[in-house]
Amino acid sequence: MGNFNLSHRLVLAPLTRRRSYNNIPQPHAILYYSQRTSKGGLLISEAAGVSETAQGYPNTPGIWTKEQVEAWKPIVDAVHAKGGIFFCQIWHAGRVSNSIYQPNGQAPISPTDKSLTSNEVQQYTPPRRLKADEIPHIVNDFKIAARNAIEAGFDGVELHGGYNRQDGINAIAENRADLVAYGRLFLANPDLPKRFALDAPLNKYNRETFYTPDPVLGYTDYPFLE
Ligand SMILES: Cc1cc2nc3c(=O)[nH]c(=O)nc-3n(C[C@H](O)[C@H](O)[C@H](O)COP(=O)(O)O)c2cc1C
Repeated sequence: MGNFNLSHRLVLAPLTRRRSYNNIPQPHAILYYSQRTSKGGLLISEAAGVSETAQGYPNTPGIWTKEQVEAWKPIVDAVHAKGGIFFCQIWHAGRVSNSIYQPNGQAPISPTDKSLTSNEVQQYTPPRRLKADEIPHIVNDFKIAARNAIEAGFDGVELHGGYNRQDGINAIAENRADLVAYGRLFLANPDLPKRFALDAPLNKYNRETFYTPDPVLGYTDYPFLE
C-alpha cells in the first residue's frame, strides 16, 4: 500500500472505545492496540477529535493538544515495536453531539442548523450553523491534527466520514479494494489474522462493553488462541 509493505490485507477498523478519560489517550490503550498488532499489519485508530468542538461522545481521544500528542506516543511506539503500521483517524462530530460535550456548553457546530433526532442511545442538541468565514478555522484544525498525528509517530492519517456501504460495494466491484477492515471481530479477537490463517474458532464480541469505560473488561481481556 503506497510506501508501506503490508504482510496481509486484514486491517483493524477504527473503533471508538470511550476509554480516553477527559479526551486523553490512556496507558491501557498501549496494551489494547499492541494486542491487535501483527508484523506488517495495518491498524486504524479510533476516531480522534481535531478540536475541543469536535467531540460527540464522552471519553473519546483528541489530538489537538500537546498533552494528547504526548499520550499517543507510547501507544504508537508499541504498535511499531511489533512491526505494525498505524494510521490515526481524525474527525469532527459536527451536530452528532450535545452541548454537554462542548466548550462552555455551547451549541455543537455544523454546516446546518437542523437538529438530528435523538434516540435512546444519544441525545442531540440543536446545532449552530457555521458562518462561511468560520469554515477555514475548521479546515485548519484538521491540518493541525494531521500534523500532530505525524508528530505523535503515526504513519498516516485517515479522515473520518463520507464513505458508505455503496461506495464500498463499488470499490470492490471495480477492483479498487485491496484491504479488508474488520471492526467487531477484531475487537473481540486480538489475534484475528492468525485465527483466519488457521481457520480457528472466533471469540464472540460483547456489545455491552463496546463503550464502557473499564480499562480491561471487554477491552484487553479477550483471549488469544492457546
Ligand atoms: C464499537 C464500535 C466503534 C466504532 N467506532 C468507529 C470510529 O471511531 N470511526 C469509524 O469510522 N467507524 C467506527 N465504527 C465502524 C467500524 O469501523 C466498522 O466500519 C463497522 O463496525 C463495520 O465493520 P464490522 O462489521 O467488521 O464490525 C465503529 C464500530 C463499532 C462496533
